[in-house]
Amino acid sequence: MNKRLIFIFFGPPGSGKGTQAEFLAKKINLPVISTGALLRQEIAGATVWGKQAKEQVASGRLVSDQLVEQIVGRRLSAPDTAKGFILDGYPRSAAQLRGLLTRLGENDEIWLVEIKVGDREVLNRLTGRRVCACGMSYHLVYKPPRVAGRCDDCGQKLALRDDDKPAVVKTRLAAYQQTAKPLLAYGERLGRLISINGEQPIPKVWSDLSKEITKKISKR
Ligand code: AP5
Repeated sequence: MNKRLIFIFFGPPGSGKGTQAEFLAKKINLPVISTGALLRQEIAGATVWGKQAKEQVASGRLVSDQLVEQIVGRRLSAPDTAKGFILDGYPRSAAQLRGLLTRLGENDEIWLVEIKVGDREVLNRLTGRRVCACGMSYHLVYKPPRVAGRCDDCGQKLALRDDDKPAVVKTRLAAYQQTAKPLLAYGERLGRLISINGEQPIPKVWSDLSKEITKKISKR
């Protein structure tokens, strides 16, 4: 198997994983695989998997490892992952981390990217986030669309995600506390952990991340 470059983005809900993963994807031309986005697609399509996940996602609880493994397994078998991929929101448990490791070859190179943001900022970001069915994401203050309430790309109406309501965000924050530990420990053990201060303007977070990645990867 060819050597693949794999990034795992983790951080609390709303820390900017998706935003920064998309910047990195453009820079290094690898696909972003977001389990949250894959689950929302299944839910929107009312598939068997979507029906199983719907309640958990709406309430901010983690979906079962078994279901996530099936969804990720199917996505990782697509040909666009041959040179590597960027994971956003997966793995999210020790079992999912083990699941991922069984899919990797010995030549694969993994980097873990932690985006650090405090709880208060998370709430501020998620209640101000507006999303489009096409996948684009905005913020009322930090990343407003050109026309209020409409997607810049496709013009569709923007909406608040069901799980961005304050009570659900609190459940998601609690779920994140369980997620972080195995990933941090694994990244440290591997010597492949990049931690970034996510409480800065979007371009500054990207500039810090991009510099760290360039520095670390050129040293390999
Ligand atoms: P998921 O969609 O992965 O949600 P999340 O991890 O909670 O992360 P978000 O997508 O909300 O935020 P983000 O960090 O990507 O931030 P973003 O860039 O959008 O998961 C949803 C649900 O699916 C889970 O709760 C669970 O139920 C289920 N699920 C998913 N994966 C699972 C798994 N592996 N196992 C089990 N269950 C799973 O930015 C947020 C907002 O802030 C945007 O408006 C953005 O414009 C703005 N913003 C970004 N960066 C900045 C900045 N630096 N300054 C100001 N604003 C910023």
